[in-house]
Amino acid sequence: MSVVTTERHGDVLVIVSDNPPVNALGAAVRQGLVDGVEEALGDDSVKAVVVRCDGRTFHAGADITEFGKPPQGPSLGEALDKMEAGDKPVVAAIHGTALGGGCEVALACHYRVAVPSAKLGLPEVKLGLIPGAAGTQRLPRVVGAKAALPMVVIGDPISAKKAKEIGLVDEIVGEDTLAEDAIAFARSKIGQPVPRSSEGTANEDGVKDPSIFDEFRQKNGRRLRGFDAPEAGIQAVKAAGEMSYADGVKKERELFMQLMTGTQSAAMRHYFFAERAANKIDDIDPNIDLIPIRKVGVIGAGTMGGGISMNFLSAGIPVTIVEMQQDALDRGTGTMRKNYERTAQRGRMTDEQVEQAMGLLTPSLDYADFADCDLVIEAVFENMDIKKEVFAKLDGIVKQGAILASNTSYLNVDEIASATSRPEYVLGLHFFSPANVMKLLEIVRGEKTADDVLMTSMKLAKKIGKIAVVAGVCPGFIGNRMLSPRQQQAQKLIMEGANYWDVDDVLLDFGFPMGPFQMSDLAGLDIGWHRDPERIESVRDALCAMDRRGQKTGAGYYDYDEARNRTPSDDVKKVIAEFAEKQGIEQREISKEEIKERLLYPMVNEGALILEEGMSQRASDIDVVWINGYGWPLYTGGPMFWADTVGLDNVVAGLEKHGDRLGENFRMSKLLKDKAAAGEKFN
Ligand code: 3HC
Ligand code: NAI
Repeated sequence: MSVVTTERHGDVLVIVSDNPPVNALGAAVRQGLVDGVEEALGDDSVKAVVVRCDGRTFHAGADITEFGKPPQGPSLGEALDKMEAGDKPVVAAIHGTALGGGCEVALACHYRVAVPSAKLGLPEVKLGLIPGAAGTQRLPRVVGAKAALPMVVIGDPISAKKAKEIGLVDEIVGEDTLAEDAIAFARSKIGQPVPRSSEGTANEDGVKDPSIFDEFRQKNGRRLRGFDAPEAGIQAVKAAGEMSYADGVKKERELFMQLMTGTQSAAMRHYFFAERAANKIDDIDPNIDLIPIRKVGVIGAGTMGGGISMNFLSAGIPVTIVEMQQDALDRGTGTMRKNYERTAQRGRMTDEQVEQAMGLLTPSLDYADFADCDLVIEAVFENMDIKKEVFAKLDGIVKQGAILASNTSYLNVDEIASATSRPEYVLGLHFFSPANVMKLLEIVRGEKTADDVLMTSMKLAKKIGKIAVVAGVCPGFIGNRMLSPRQQQAQKLIMEGANYWDVDDVLLDFGFPMGPFQMSDLAGLDIGWHRDPERIESVRDALCAMDRRGQKTGAGYYDYDEARNRTPSDDVKKVIAEFAEKQGIEQREISKEEIKERLLYPMVNEGALILEEGMSQRASDIDVVWINGYGWPLYTGGPMFWADTVGLDNVVAGLEKHGDRLGENFRMSKLLKDKAAAGEKFN
């Protein structure tokens, strides 16, 4: 059957697309839309047209799998021009998500009606692109440049209600009566002159007040740093006010093609599919019966336990949280409440929702309260003996069939599981701090973890809004394991004479939000410090003894002013040089190029070791971990994709060049070497 069909309802022709899963606008759909419009225009008895989709959503965009392949059939732009040009009213009937090319379809229609739950948006920027079917030219003409900017440049979808407010949607119709309501709406417009988006005049706001573009750049500068597509989006929206529609469309096309052929968009499209691939567990049937999770237990109400609990409370799942002492319990639950209240103050939650979430929490000092939990997550101190004790205790209390998880950062999950009589129900659920905010979740698959336990955890992750990746049992799993060589190289480099601020700047320039020394200053150098100013065994000890304990004391590696701006310190550079001398390390000048290679190539190598040991299912999973957990810049696609773009032979040559300097722990991955020799890529 064709993916696009037409139905007659009296004098209204309804064009219906059905292209699961998301009605992407592939070649067949575009052709179907053109055919439908021609049918309507060629038949005098048709007086109005409705464009609608079956299935879960209105068109959610161009078909991303077609990108980079030779174009087939009518382009979306051509199809939409045809749709807009006629004199019979065309109405888009929107449910689900009208995104990207889908939103452009809606814009080319003369009217748009939507159900209350619908969302509309132009998320192309998240794929390193701008809309390419005149979205940047039609949208500002309909809603104004000011309202168009965030949609084009940030790319978050807006609700039907908001779309109605800004004039993108003409009418909100019944949630369950979209098809009929759209036909009635179309019929009500018969005989009236059709409003064409390309002829709209709302874009004049940007001409009258051109400062809105700079203001927008300034307001979002930090968030957009390093990305190419947002600036192209701003230029395209601006052009919509300055140029004729036809010239504006040409300008959009130019910018679109530049982005489409660049590396950023390739990287971001890779990431789009990587995130979705990460959900899949290769050797487990996705339809396996899941363990129902109706009640969750959390052990430890510290930094992580509190944040972890909030994920479930926010998703409406009751949580029992257990601590050793009443004061720790009160402190922990107090912090959770404060966090929720802050969210409410920012308008992202109602007071009622705060009470609802907190109402689902049962604080306790008694492990017996875990008895009927379906999942218990341990977040106590990072110590194997304590963790084993806790798991042995849980084993005796928690009902059979429940999942027992550890939030350990580094420890061996199999050893933890061995403290129970049911290791198949044990796994790691490694949240990142702050656990209620950070998107990443590493799901650590133990040697004996059962398939349903793993799949249940994967599905649950999605329910609480996390991006989950499966990792095997090895120290630090995927993320922290790859962080280690980078940290080691950073320390080695400053001992060998690299400026510590150059080390930070290299990572900053690469696109990380922060370098390791800035990070230390932010976290506080005295975390885990022995607190004896006489005992000086490391640079850190020396700095703490000088009362340079980080931003909180106004100085750490850097000096800080009132506004927390950093300045490199000669004193600190001297401390480092003295340490190097004591250790017999000769200092030399080190280029930023060497710094970059020594920080990043060993990470790629570690990623390759993780793959060759089977600790990660696929290279793209590693990219998902680093982008979501450690601020690796999205526009490079993650460490493994980035290595592919650098060329694996170049990575290997770089590692060999630095040889002994990488340290005695360094071990070249065979997989990396083999792939480089064969001219292959990870992704
Ligand atoms: N093209 C091809 N495949 C797509 C797709 C698209 N635009 N959007 C989603 N898919 C696929 C996914 O890869 C996934 O495949 P899988 O099941 O094999 O893994 C499947 O559809 C379901 O997707 P999700 O798992 O993401 O489903 P959700 O229900 O969680 O989310 C969604 C649905 C909100 C529509 C989400 O898929 C999404 O955000 N899609 C991308 C939207 C987008 O970026 N559109 C713009 C495209 S660029 C464009 O339109 C250019 C134009 O201006 C010319
Ligand atoms: P924390 O020290 O803030 O909290 C631990 C809490 O556990 C304390 O409140 C303590 O009173 C309680 N506790 C200790 N033993 C207990 C027991 N037997 N029964 C009940 N409660 C007990 O530690 P944090 O940072 O929350 O770390 C917890 C775990 O999470 C560790 O394994 C850590 O490695 C891991 N982790 C930490 C991250 C971080 O950034 N802090 C990130 C990811 C994982």
